[in-house]
Amino acid sequence: LKLGVLISGRGSNLQALLDAATVPDFPAAVALVLSNKADAAGLERARAAGIPALALPHKDYADKPAHEQAMTRALEDAGVELVCLAGFMRLLSPWFVDHWRDRLINIHPSLLPAFPGIDTHQRALDAGVRFHGCTVHYVRSEVDSGPIVAQAAVPVAPDDTAESLAARVLAAEHQIYPLAVRLIAQGQVTVEGDRARMSGPLV
Ligand code: GRF
Repeated sequence: LKLGVLISGRGSNLQALLDAATVPDFPAAVALVLSNKADAAGLERARAAGIPALALPHKDYADKPAHEQAMTRALEDAGVELVCLAGFMRLLSPWFVDHWRDRLINIHPSLLPAFPGIDTHQRALDAGVRFHGCTVHYVRSEVDSGPIVAQAAVPVAPDDTAESLAARVLAAEHQIYPLAVRLIAQGQVTVEGDRARMSGPLV
């Protein structure tokens, strides 16, 4: 399965996908990395792995539709079949979400539907939850919603800060994003409306 990965910064989840794709039986490969920020560290990670990486800064385009059309054109030219958001910090329009419907996934640093949006780790601490985590989901127009593919839970420690909790969650992100991509690429995930159904073994 050909992947397109959209980033805005660090790109550690991109790195997890790049690393997974070096395993011989992994059923997906990163075909293109796009960033809306020219200085995203993730672009260098892609280039170091020999993967085409393009900066398409949103401010170079007249409006959001023009930017999203340019991204879509680049993804389609590269033959991308599944778009993976990995720390892409722009809200996507209903047009883009609809164009890539059921071919667009995201990783979010909480156990959705808890804590959509930003500052998830501090909000989890403030809420006093004992478990926190991350979710890979298909993207729908409403922010951080859509059929859930994979989740991982991590315990919250009594002395956690947002930073220490974020680090524990990030390690789990790096496990489940490649896992979710593998399940999709193996044809084990079927989207039925607002739910994703899983079939076959999970590893
Ligand atoms: C991750 O925490 C991801 O869940 C969120 O943005 C962060 C991106 O980190 N959507 P990185 O760029 O993959 O290192």
